[in-house]
Formats: sequence, structure tokens, C-alpha cells
Amino acid sequence: MAAVPVITVDGPSGSGKGTLAKALADHLGWHLLDSGALYRIVGCVAARLSVEVTDQTALAELARGLDIQFQGDVVWVRIAGQRTDLADEIRTEDAGVQASVVAALPEVRRAILSVQQGFRRNPGLVADGRDMGTVVFPDAQLKIFLDASAEERAQRRYKQLKNKGLSVSLRGLLEQIRERDARDRGRAVAPLKPAEDAVILDSTHLSIDAVLAQVVSLAKKAGLAH
Ligand code: DC
Repeated sequence: MAAVPVITVDGPSGSGKGTLAKALADHLGWHLLDSGALYRIVGCVAARLSVEVTDQTALAELARGLDIQFQGDVVWVRIAGQRTDLADEIRTEDAGVQASVVAALPEVRRAILSVQQGFRRNPGLVADGRDMGTVVFPDAQLKIFLDASAEERAQRRYKQLKNKGLSVSLRGLLEQIRERDARDRGRAVAPLKPAEDAVILDSTHLSIDAVLAQVVSLAKKAGLAH
């Protein structure tokens, strides 16, 4: 039986990979895995249950026992028996930082590995993250690594947060992005880097539609789309 097709979209935060992965999954009618959301959920649930981010074993156990349901924009997570929507909580800047910290722990990554692989279902999966092409789905049929300059990524985030009516400093965001990049790229386990067989795209000067068009054309060439 042929393996369920997977397209991986890896890259740093703010490169547009989340938007690209969602648009691509919609275009193909495939499932979507937002793996960053899983790390964000682990961080948020740990905070709610007062689990220390230094307690790797407790965090891994928490990750293994997660009961999560993605339902459109709603993210249902069962916490202490209570079904809770964490959609807004996991999208904050703090949750991103917390996610990056727990994601550096090898036991947590191991615990989340099989959860992620469970998303591989017919007719196909678009998997968005940092190590989708290198670790989680090394046999993916198409691997994209989407990059953009740190300055452009900070600008995009700044606009997003401004539009939400939040007051933020561009300089602060740029610093945060650089710190997070350093942690994600520099960690010992599954660091953020392109798979050897990944196609590297730079979205600094490209609209999301232009990037999507390029990826759809690559998917067609790989026989994954019509
Ligand atoms: O994509 P994101 O910003 O939601 O991810 C949040 C953090 O989770 C990011 O800083 C690094 C981590 N992460 C990871 O280590 N591996 C993944 N596959 C996805 C996210």
C-alpha cells in the first residue's frame, strides 16, 4: 500500500509557513498539522497545572496524555477533566516563548512525535513546523523550507498585533524573534534547519499568494496535485 502523501512546510516563525500550510491544505483538500500549536499547548497546559518547565519527565507525561481536538478555529484541550478552548491563549507572544522552551526538551519532543505522526491520514497531510521534513516525516514526498529575513518577520508580526489593537514595540519583537531563532536553530535535538532534500523558498519579498503558486506548481511536478 502506498504511503499517505505528506508535504512538509518548515521554517522560522513569521516566515508565513502557517498561512502557506493552511492555504495549501485547503487547496489540496488535505489534512493540516500545525505542530507548533502542539508545543504551545504543552506550554500553556503546564503553566495552568503549575508544572515547572525544568521538569522534563512531568512535561513529557503531560504531552503523552494530551487530549486535543482541532475544530476550525477552536482548539479543545482536556485539562484536569475539563474541556477547555485554548485557541486564544496559545497564540500569545508568551505562549510562543514558552513553546520554544519546552520544545527544546528531548523527552517532550519524543512524546509528541507519535501524536504528530497520527495526523498522517488520507487523502494527504500538510505538516507545518520546524522539523517536519527532517525528523517527523523524513519520507515526505515534498519538503518546503520557507524563510524570510528577521526584519521582515518582525514587521509582519508588528502589523498583525497592531491590527489586533495591541501596543507593541517593533524593536522588542525583532529581539524576541532573534532570541527564539537562536534557541530553535541552536538546540541539540531536532534544530530548525532545512532537510537536505528540501526546496528552500524566501518569502521576504513575496506575497503569500505568490509563494502558494510556487508550491502548488512543485506539488504538481511531484504528482501530488492536478
Ligand atoms: O510555529 P510556532 O511559532 O507556533 O511554534 C512555537 C514554538 O514551538 C517554536 O518556537 C519552536 C517550537 N516548535 C518546534 O520546536 N518544532 C515544531 N515542529 C514546531 C514548533
